[in-house]
Amino acid sequence: MSKLILVTGGAGYVGSHCVLEFLNKEYNVIVIDNLVNSTIINGNGLPESLIRVQHLTGKKLKQFIDGDLRDSELLDSIFSNNNIDVVIHFAGLKAVGESIAKPLLYYDNNITGTINLLKSMEKFKVNKLVFSSSSTVYGEPEELPITEHFPTGQNCTNPYGRTKYMLEEIMKDLCVASPDWSIMSLRYFNPVGAHFSADIGEQPNGEPKNLMPYITQVAVGVRKELKVFGNDYKTSDGTCIRDYLHIEDLAVGHLKAIDKIYNNNFPGFHAINLGTGRGYTVLEVIQAFKMATGVKIAYKIVDRRPGDACAVYADARLAHEVIGWKATRGLQDMCSSAWKWQQKNPNGYRSKVK
Ligand code: NAD
Ligand code: WQD
Repeated sequence: MSKLILVTGGAGYVGSHCVLEFLNKEYNVIVIDNLVNSTIINGNGLPESLIRVQHLTGKKLKQFIDGDLRDSELLDSIFSNNNIDVVIHFAGLKAVGESIAKPLLYYDNNITGTINLLKSMEKFKVNKLVFSSSSTVYGEPEELPITEHFPTGQNCTNPYGRTKYMLEEIMKDLCVASPDWSIMSLRYFNPVGAHFSADIGEQPNGEPKNLMPYITQVAVGVRKELKVFGNDYKTSDGTCIRDYLHIEDLAVGHLKAIDKIYNNNFPGFHAINLGTGRGYTVLEVIQAFKMATGVKIAYKIVDRRPGDACAVYADARLAHEVIGWKATRGLQDMCSSAWKWQQKNPNGYRSKVK
């Protein structure tokens, strides 16, 4: 019998790419998403991202539930009506600036929502979980590359980052209290790009806060120029270094994580970096985009963005050792897939499929 996976936040950017992989692997999938950051267009109750995922895979979700993780009765009913094998937990709010302005919203949504999920899981004896964590838990690292043993939480510069840190601590405590739990916390570095079909991708709301969607919007003419935040960092060209990771590699990482926690006896809490292990400066990304697409990005150097770390990249060896995962796609692929998605979908999921 095929495994049944409950995916929270499966309509979002990372979730939709992962659901596509899960369906391709013949898993049964239930998605719960409150659509706070997703788009419904056709009035049939399914977000456009998941309509496209079903179309691309030729497979159907077992169920889509338009619901909120803060609704504990709803969660209990999902677990009581289904024999769920594994939970993949993407649902959360993720905008750093908004989290500074609205900390209670972030603590309520991300922490309360996750505690409800964990309580339902405990009640119905489902104890295998893959959690979306973030390199943001490391803050500004003292050394590079960043291994999973580095301290977390101390340098988080915003409430969003602190929710990821706090949730990891809660999950660790749970695993200490009960050996039945098996939790894998995947600390993503900088996921970018889109599925090769260019039918699913990242749809930022309003002015993008992240580098790659900003670049593609400049390339397509929606924005005039990219503001490069600071060129006085101690790096080769003065701009910040990040570990960009192709979204399709990230999705494969989730498949490997499921295989590990489901097929092996792998109790306890395990944090794993998902990155390439290679960092690029902002100017290198701009250059790579030109190489990959032929489009030159207009930019100007502006002041540093408060809270930005100078350089962040992963030591990605543990992912290889523990789950047998390694990123295979490079920066050019990330740029060209992001550009293809932007061109094919100038209005994100509101664009017609061509
Ligand atoms: P996203 O906003 O595209 O997807 C998150 C989904 O969760 C959305 O569809 C949203 O509607 C849903 N959601 C939010 N709160 C909910 C709630 N209370 N109940 C039900 N659904 C809810 O974000 P994403 O980029 O796909 O990120 C997925 C996860 O990965 C998040 O937890 C995020 O913090 C984490 N993460 C993302 C990145 C990144 O750069 N994209 C990096 C590191 C970690
Ligand atoms: C990358 C680089 C900017 C925009 C964020 C979150 C983090 C994680 C991933 C979820 C930096 C520079 C950016 C622009 C620029 N998300 N930049 N001009 O800051 O590494 O991480 O996303 O967990 O929590 O903080 O990613 O894409 O915003 O920035 O110069 O318009 O691009 O300074 O050096 P970041 P990013």
